[in-house]
Amino acid sequence: MSIQTRIEQGVLTIAFDRADKKNAITAAMYQAMADALREAEGDPAVRAILFCGKPEIFTAGNDLEDFAQRPPVDGADAAEAPVFQFLYQISHASKPLLAAVSGPAVGVGTTMLLHCDFVYASETARLSLPFAQLGLCPEAASSLLLPRLLGYQRAAEKLMLGEAFDAEEAYRIGLVTRVLPVGELEAFARKQAARLAALPASSLRETKRLMKGGDMAAVEARMAEEGAVFRRLLQSPEAKEAFAAFFERRKPDFTRFQ
Ligand code: COA
Repeated sequence: MSIQTRIEQGVLTIAFDRADKKNAITAAMYQAMADALREAEGDPAVRAILFCGKPEIFTAGNDLEDFAQRPPVDGADAAEAPVFQFLYQISHASKPLLAAVSGPAVGVGTTMLLHCDFVYASETARLSLPFAQLGLCPEAASSLLLPRLLGYQRAAEKLMLGEAFDAEEAYRIGLVTRVLPVGELEAFARKQAARLAALPASSLRETKRLMKGGDMAAVEARMAEEGAVFRRLLQSPEAKEAFAAFFERRKPDFTRFQ
């Protein structure tokens, strides 16, 4: 399994563990994370949840091969696709979510951070949202949350050009809580998670609900809208060209598409 989970002193750690594929996330990995988050909601032993990657890579985002071969399909079961289950759980989690991000955090590796309460990044973290470059569109309500956070024009550059930005910039724009040396990142994030685990769970739950609750309907509606477009674009010739280009290690050519 390429997701490792463990519970220690009230903290559930969900760790990407697929370094040979840059922690790219398959449907099975989304399912494992969605299940872990769902179980954590009802488990009094879990008082905070920490997402980790490796020092060299947080995650390369969706596994492009898995996505192309087993795309989340439209229809009655669309919301049941593992990726959408994960996005639902992460956006509805009532317990504190923390992330320790080092190295590249691509696509959902960055959008999932919009749903975390504390985001710690190492000096080597590189965030990117290359959805348009892949013939796709934003997900995880990032088309709503990122413009709110950055202002429309700065969000447009991130979501349309998809260029990577570093931890300092992510800190300046408010997407990252604190930037740390790579060697201190995980221990610091773990210490903060333990501090949260020692606080009254009900107060943290209410604090989070009060800060986020008013947005929930809008976030849910935007995720559904994005999901429908994303599923359609996954089948598009532009996405097929982008995915093929990645695996053939060449530049994609979109000029023949209108
Ligand atoms: N899906 C599937 N496989 C992926 C992947 C992804 N998203 N990202 C990396 N891999 C695989 C590569 O195909 C390669 O496999 P191989 O060794 O069998 O050839 C391996 O992981 C190493 O990747 P590589 O590109 O050589 O590593 P790198 O250090 O040069 O670059 C990244 C790391 C993350 C910058 C780069 O892999 C990348 O841009 N990945 C794609 C990110 C992406 O577009 N994600 C989708 C967002 S929706």
